[in-house]
Amino acid sequence: MERSLVILKPDALQRGLLGTLIGRLEARGLKFVGLKLMQIDDTLARKHYEIHKDRPFFPSLVQFIQSGPVVVIAIEGQDVIETIRSTVGATNPVKATPGTIRGDFAVSIGRNLIHASDTLANGQTEVNNFFESNELLGSYQRDTDKWIFEA
Ligand code: RTP
Ligand code: MG
Repeated sequence: MERSLVILKPDALQRGLLGTLIGRLEARGLKFVGLKLMQIDDTLARKHYEIHKDRPFFPSLVQFIQSGPVVVIAIEGQDVIETIRSTVGATNPVKATPGTIRGDFAVSIGRNLIHASDTLANGQTEVNNFFESNELLGSYQRDTDKWIFEA
């Protein structure tokens, strides 16, 4: 089953937007299988953003993601990578379509509120980097699933 890691970044908590952003993902019908408040340390921050290690914005990216508490969410389901990325919107909020999270709540690329895994492989890796297996509840059913997913 496809998995994605969402991080509600430090700006989301500081701006009091956690509930709003979680609500958007929940209202879309996405199934949460892991969810916790945490503070990312330097080792995990560097690992998470390793792909960007040679980019000029890497130091500020790594510094910002560990600058305050974040909420991390593991989401499971068919096509969750693409579904969540479209809900999140373009990396640069200036270019993000209204109706997306970044298009509605952010204006600056370095304060774009939310991370979402960008590929199937990265979704699996990132969920495993942020959650122990006993923190993931993959097997529960929701009574509403039949109203959200066509069989
Ligand atoms: P994310 O990883 O946070 O979900 O965002 P993304 O896939 O849309 O963007 P990505 O290319 O992976 O970049 C990761 C984060 O780095 C910051 N960034 N700054 N100054 C810049 O040119 C620049 N480019 C990217 C953004 O905060 C982005 O979310
Ligand atoms: Mg990315």
